[in-house]
Amino acid sequence: MANTVIIGAQWGDEGKGKIVDMLSARSQVIVRFQGGNNAGHTIKVGNEETILHLVPSGILHPGALCLVGNGVVLDPEVFLRETEELAARGVDVSPGRLAISKKAHLILPYHKSLDKAREAKRAGHKIGTTGRGIGPCYEDKAARVGLRAGDLADPDLVRAKVRHALLEKNVLLRELYKFEALDPDAVSDGLLALAPRLLPYVQDTDARLHAAMEAGADVLFEGAQGIHLDIDHGTYPFVTSSNTVAGNAAAGSAVAPSALERVVGVIKAYTTRVGSGPFPTELLDDAGSYLRTNGHEFGATTGRPRRCGWFDAVVARESVRLNGITDLALTKLDVLQNLPVLRICVAYELDGKTLDYLPQEEGALGRVTPVYEEVPGFEEDISGCRDFAELPDTVRAYVERLEELTGARMSFISVGPGREQTIER
Ligand code: GDP
Ligand code: IMO
Ligand code: MG
Repeated sequence: MANTVIIGAQWGDEGKGKIVDMLSARSQVIVRFQGGNNAGHTIKVGNEETILHLVPSGILHPGALCLVGNGVVLDPEVFLRETEELAARGVDVSPGRLAISKKAHLILPYHKSLDKAREAKRAGHKIGTTGRGIGPCYEDKAARVGLRAGDLADPDLVRAKVRHALLEKNVLLRELYKFEALDPDAVSDGLLALAPRLLPYVQDTDARLHAAMEAGADVLFEGAQGIHLDIDHGTYPFVTSSNTVAGNAAAGSAVAPSALERVVGVIKAYTTRVGSGPFPTELLDDAGSYLRTNGHEFGATTGRPRRCGWFDAVVARESVRLNGITDLALTKLDVLQNLPVLRICVAYELDGKTLDYLPQEEGALGRVTPVYEEVPGFEEDISGCRDFAELPDTVRAYVERLEELTGARMSFISVGPGREQTIER
């Protein structure tokens, strides 16, 4: 298999975990390149469900090398907890096959406090962040005051950086947000106490990745969140704080753009979104509740109910264009069973004009009216289908219509959460 970037083509939770796990069987290296534990990637093998927040979704394949790239923001406690839980279940999480880039930035307690404090203060216009400190950590990276995983080897550097960071942040926390200030020594002590367990994982992942590629390995670059949560191209300001687009797989894992050979966009057969922000095809009626219940649409990270709506081909087209998607993996098609009619948004109307692409002015997407096309629904249980030809005519017609509208081929069709519940074309 060629080096492949896997990204979410909507607003996250498209089923990236399942697709990465599936394609990991054909890859030797899996790299996370952005985001942090705002992600929740679910893998179902048999009756066992695994939700990963930081560890790459290839970890369940014993031979695969799993790397946390420089573009990730890493919460040390969450990483250690996740590896311990995996180890307790017999998964090999030794530093021989799981490593963190020395250049990855660390999420510290003050990032989480600031994330929560800001959201609390935002009252009527919350972003609805996961509260994991993602935004404040990326802010410090850009402000050049962040701590990186490699710093853990130098306690004096850790203490100096934490002290420096808290000079400013404690003023904000105490004076502006009326939150508790943090003691620099306590923060440094807490972090340095974790260092002995973390440091074996902290490696020159660039060297490991390049050595593997030179030896002929195929690499999977595992995206988190979704394209419409991208800091530049998403529904700003209701976005996450990293570039989620496929292009960032290169910068976020230290490979050349020319190493990215194939881009798989994971896309649900309908749409969901967690947190605030515009969502043109959102359903606030029984059909929306049906999708939420039937699709178990509750956040894998925060447990929040996900907002649900119809498939939006405008959103999908934009993702295809921004990422050079070579293949789409359509997920959760089974969830649409028993809806009498399926609606597909093919365009938007805004101020008397018809739009094929998302408007770029802030707030405009919140004012569009979706233009829908209706196709018949299906009643058959498709969760056992393993071949495209086995799908009922109505289902095949729906998939083919989505291909026409998005301009990309649905090379994978997922009809259930299980590893084997996939049609490959
Ligand atoms: P990710 O963040 O993109 O990895 O997606 P999540 O794991 O947050 O959410 C996807 C959910 O859908 C998980 O609970 C998966 O087990 C489940 N899932 C994935 N593919 C399918 C599918 O084809 N059908 C059904 N019914 N569930 C699926
Ligand atoms: P996976 O990888 C869905 C959303 C949050 C919020 C916005 C900003 O599982 O698809 P943040 O904590 O990142 O500052 O929150 O982004 N968000 C996600 N929504 N899936 C995710 O990850 C998400 N990660 C962040 O709900 O609206
Ligand atoms: Mg998720």
